[in-house]
Amino acid sequence: MTHTLRPLLRALLCALVATVALYSSRLPGLHAYAQQTAESTESLGVFLTWKDDPTSSIVIDWQTAAADAREAVTWRKVDSDHWFTTDAGPVHFPGSERHAYRASLENLEPATTYEFRAGSAGRVYRFRTMPREMDRDILFAAGGDTRHTQEMMEKTARQAVLHDLDFIIIGGDLAYADGNPANVNRWHEWFDAYQTLIREDGRVIPMVASIGNHETSTAYFHRATDFENSDAWRERVAPFFFNLFAFPGHPGYGALDFGNYLTLLALDTDHVTPIDGAQRSWLEERLEQRSDVRHIFPFYHVPAYPSVRRFDGSVSTRVRQHWVPLFEQHNIRLVFESHDHAYKRTHPIRSGVVAENGIVYMGDGAWGVGVREIGREHDEPAWYLAQAASVRHFILVRLEGDAIHAETIDEDGNVIDRWAAGL
Ligand SMILES: [Fe+2]
Ligand SMILES: [Fe+2]
Repeated sequence: MTHTLRPLLRALLCALVATVALYSSRLPGLHAYAQQTAESTESLGVFLTWKDDPTSSIVIDWQTAAADAREAVTWRKVDSDHWFTTDAGPVHFPGSERHAYRASLENLEPATTYEFRAGSAGRVYRFRTMPREMDRDILFAAGGDTRHTQEMMEKTARQAVLHDLDFIIIGGDLAYADGNPANVNRWHEWFDAYQTLIREDGRVIPMVASIGNHETSTAYFHRATDFENSDAWRERVAPFFFNLFAFPGHPGYGALDFGNYLTLLALDTDHVTPIDGAQRSWLEERLEQRSDVRHIFPFYHVPAYPSVRRFDGSVSTRVRQHWVPLFEQHNIRLVFESHDHAYKRTHPIRSGVVAENGIVYMGDGAWGVGVREIGREHDEPAWYLAQAASVRHFILVRLEGDAIHAETIDEDGNVIDRWAAGL
């Protein structure tokens, strides 16, 4: 190489380096991401949920064994060349040596599959946003009472993940830690078991949870001598639920709207908020505002129509007194209940009797818990039960236009019940 060419080559090389540096600084997070992967932190997994519009957002939580060197999520549309970065913040995980983080992605495209990396770990996961219109069937799993043991939770999860679920709803009693930081290991097991809900292609199934008695240290608000309707009190008695779950947040119940075709109503059966009063008014208002919504599903913990416990139990009675008339008035067709640790499907019920145009109540909370005998606290067979069994299960729900198809699948993958409406 001649002396005259060398300075020219050096200048060209410098220009190339400068261009690459400038370009990568414009691609959000690309340069920093390349640096961080070299010192990645061991990830203990992810958790997905929604707190806003599921057609354009997602909430990504993850946990690490040591502090994550990178508090951000890097993401892109599948097959896109462009990675984006969204900053995350730490999440308080009471009593845990784990580090937890949360990032909320917004302004996403509907009906789109995205890839993401959480923090500095290298694993690429996927999620997908929900469609804006109901131009395809919607498939979800419903259950409750998820973890007496990690093995029980995982066994049912292994059956659920075989289906191309859009999401899962869980009606309370998640990890059985009773709001006590000394029981934090139950939450570690719960999040470890949740990793079973990642499909083969890396897609993580989002979960939407409501509160149960085992999320709190007092079980029911009226048992607490110091009950007050405040964020501080709720976080004191249910510190895991309010920190680890972005939805429903305070005051412990909420509505999640999918376009104008689906609304999920996560309710609180007297755990940190009374069934009546403000929650009942809120529920009435939400139902009134959603008269055009095709599918509305309330889900909550203590059943109005229990399969195991007494029909005249005080909380069940309060649900029937304060919420059921609203459900009936607003033409709810299917409600999900939990807490009794068995499977049940009721006859359609309206005004306290079996009626063709009534509401069906399915549950009764046995995703991953020891099951109980049907009617154990009943004096005679319950008039409202159409099907019941002491078996761990989840309910697979497919929404097809106006129709609802429900299949109950046990922990071994057997279909043990089928029900449909609106055909
Ligand atoms: Fe319970
Ligand atoms: Fe339970």
